[in-house]
Amino acid sequence: MKYDFDTVRSRYNTFSMKYDGMGKRLKPGFIPLFVADMDLKCPPAIIEAMHKVADHEIYGYSGSFADDRYNQSIIRWFGDKYGFKIEPDWILPSAGTCSAINAAIREFSNVGDGVIICRPVYGHFTGMIEGDCHRKAVDCHLIKDENGNFHMDFDKLDKLCSEPNNRIFLLCSPHNPVGRVWTREELEKVVAITKKHNVMLLVDEIHCDIRRAGIDFIPVGTVTNDYSNICIFGGLGKTFNTAGLMCSNAIVPDEFLRARIRNELSGGLSPFAIAACITAYGGECDEWVDEMNKYIDGNIDYAIDFCRKNLPWVEVGRPEGTYCLWLDFAGSGLSGEEIHRRIYEDANVILQDGTVHDPEFGATCQRMCTPVARSVLVEAMERIAKVFTDIK
Ligand SMILES: Cc1ncc(COP(=O)(O)O)c(C=O)c1O
Repeated sequence: MKYDFDTVRSRYNTFSMKYDGMGKRLKPGFIPLFVADMDLKCPPAIIEAMHKVADHEIYGYSGSFADDRYNQSIIRWFGDKYGFKIEPDWILPSAGTCSAINAAIREFSNVGDGVIICRPVYGHFTGMIEGDCHRKAVDCHLIKDENGNFHMDFDKLDKLCSEPNNRIFLLCSPHNPVGRVWTREELEKVVAITKKHNVMLLVDEIHCDIRRAGIDFIPVGTVTNDYSNICIFGGLGKTFNTAGLMCSNAIVPDEFLRARIRNELSGGLSPFAIAACITAYGGECDEWVDEMNKYIDGNIDYAIDFCRKNLPWVEVGRPEGTYCLWLDFAGSGLSGEEIHRRIYEDANVILQDGTVHDPEFGATCQRMCTPVARSVLVEAMERIAKVFTDIK
């Protein structure tokens, strides 16, 4: 490999939410695998671009519109990688993906309306829908088949979309935390159902670039030319490990929808964010992303293999996309509280409770984010196995 993902680099004293933020409340030596935030060093080209901005020594107001390369880099990335032909006008920059989704929920529904989601799903969807926007999260729960694979319940989705109070379907594609990368056929069904019932379709594609080898990502923007109910959200944060730079882009092809949310977005990006986007999507980081994906594939395979050998009663599927694992500890026969206590307190490994993503059925599940140096993952898995040696 050209890039070194194995070296462990301390993130303490860097304002890191994952380390400095959590460190205030946790026992020293904790291993944080709870948040979708990589510990891998970001691509050298982006680091260089950050230095250039810093070296200029003036950090005044900036705007993505001030440099054509901003939109062109996004057009290149999604066109070349996924065949999604984006027009410059469709791009609405925003400081963070969630803030843009938040704005869309507020614009396209009213207080008390239903927003459909497919749990288990990224827990902050519920936080945004209910906490920030005072709408109702309506669960169209994923179906788990006999092989442990997750599917959308299209009959239920059709029924929920037919209810007049349910104004929005918020889809996670690829799906965090279960790691499904939706197929073209699945997305076509989603588009047809939402269109039929005149429901807004908000698609969060932030995890699109992180996938297992051989798995293709289908942007929802390539399954239809009718964008009259579709807004797409994503950003650099996950792919290039730049979450702290707050650089996201909503893609809204429909002029009318765009006019409605443009002013709701906090689109003023820092010069660091703009430079990072141009560099990330512009062509200098493609090889890094390929290698990062290979490394994550290795981490995922390691963790799954470890479970098979040492924790065979843990149910875990191989995600097609994202770097998250959705682990079900129900086979231990222990309560959710006891599973949590053993992992978080005894093993001092910090995952994320399944109830964050699936309040009704997630009690025995844990989400583990794996984008860390292999040695850290090895240590975490060994610590977890040690606190369950009594379970056969
Ligand atoms: C599905 C999904 N959407 C959005 C976000 C957060 O994006 P941002 O930090 O750009 O708001 C995350 C972070 O984990 C995520 O998993």
